[in-house]
Amino acid sequence: MPNYGDPKYWEERYDEQMGTTFDWLEDYETLKPIIEELKINKSAKILNLGCGNSEFCEKMYDDGYHNYYNVDICENVIKFMIDRNTQREKMKCIDKLIFTFSRNHGRKRITIRRKLF
Ligand SMILES: C[S@@+](CC[C@H](N)C(=O)[O-])C[C@H]1O[C@@H](n2cnc3c(N)ncnc32)[C@H](O)[C@@H]1O
Repeated sequence: MPNYGDPKYWEERYDEQMGTTFDWLEDYETLKPIIEELKINKSAKILNLGCGNSEFCEKMYDDGYHNYYNVDICENVIKFMIDRNTQREKMKCIDKLIFTFSRNHGRKRITIRRKLF
């Protein structure tokens, strides 16, 4: 079994699969009804922890959730995500948690944690 807990595993995997996308488990279309049911304020800060090369973020962003932070431990996949989403000007892609996720100023804070090892 691959060592999913080793960042090197992910770096190598993303080097091999550079230019492709992959959604683990459910994709955005499947989870969208649940997200809509939660009635999340579209200006809420959204942290997608362990974003990988999934299309989830861009589909959610294109639905109006623009305060969006993609974070991953792998620099190579974050570079790929930055390049892929240049037209999504407000989307942030960060290769480590170098920012402070500010306190909840009356808004909901949403964290998307999909298959993080
Ligand atoms: C199974 S993939 C899931 C990718 C994406 N969230 C999806 O659902 O398609 C797990 C991701 O978590 C990242 N990861 C693992 N440990 C991490 C950590 N401590 N901090 C940030 N990202 C991490 C990996 O680099 C990998 O991109």
